[in-house]
Amino acid sequence: MSLHLHRNIFGNPSNAGNVLSKAETDKLFTSWVLNPRLQLHMKQVAQLMKCWAAEKEMLDEVDQWRWEMAGLLHDADWDQWPDQHCKKIIEELESRNIDPEIIRAIASHGPLHFGVEPETKMDKMLYAFDELSGLVHAYALMRPNNYVGMDLKGVKKRLKEKSFAANVSREDIDDACKRADESLDDIITFIIPRQAAVK
Ligand SMILES: [Fe+2]
Repeated sequence: MSLHLHRNIFGNPSNAGNVLSKAETDKLFTSWVLNPRLQLHMKQVAQLMKCWAAEKEMLDEVDQWRWEMAGLLHDADWDQWPDQHCKKIIEELESRNIDPEIIRAIASHGPLHFGVEPETKMDKMLYAFDELSGLVHAYALMRPNNYVGMDLKGVKKRLKEKSFAANVSREDIDDACKRADESLDDIITFIIPRQAAVK
């Protein structure tokens, strides 16, 4: 099954800055995503996107929400329509005249799967956080104290064990860090405390 999108232009430039409200996003999120584990993953990635926008990109609250919204909705169609993954949420957001940068970030969050190159920093960080967030959370679940006391060294040890969270692509992680021009260590160190706060 190919999830290749076979296109490279998303949304309409005249919709720049258009977002869903928090309530509208929550409504879409809860009606499309029924699996609590996937919901948590999407909330974790959303929190990381928001924090990165605020702390590293120094963006204002309006832009922080654009980053957060991309994180909250990036896997919205995976639960109920896996064979239309990415395509369905993209078309939904296009039909609602949403900012093309948000739609593009979602479309490029798996370049090896969807065939869309991450271009902006928002695109690149969504791709990087997507896989690394999953690995860090899998590690938290196997630790007696969850995120408490977790450090970079422990995460990297798990990353080297191919059998640990084997569905998390090490190839995607390497590719994402290179594209984002951020070190693996810095991204993991950023993730641990911020992801720990998401319930
Ligand atoms: Fe994801």
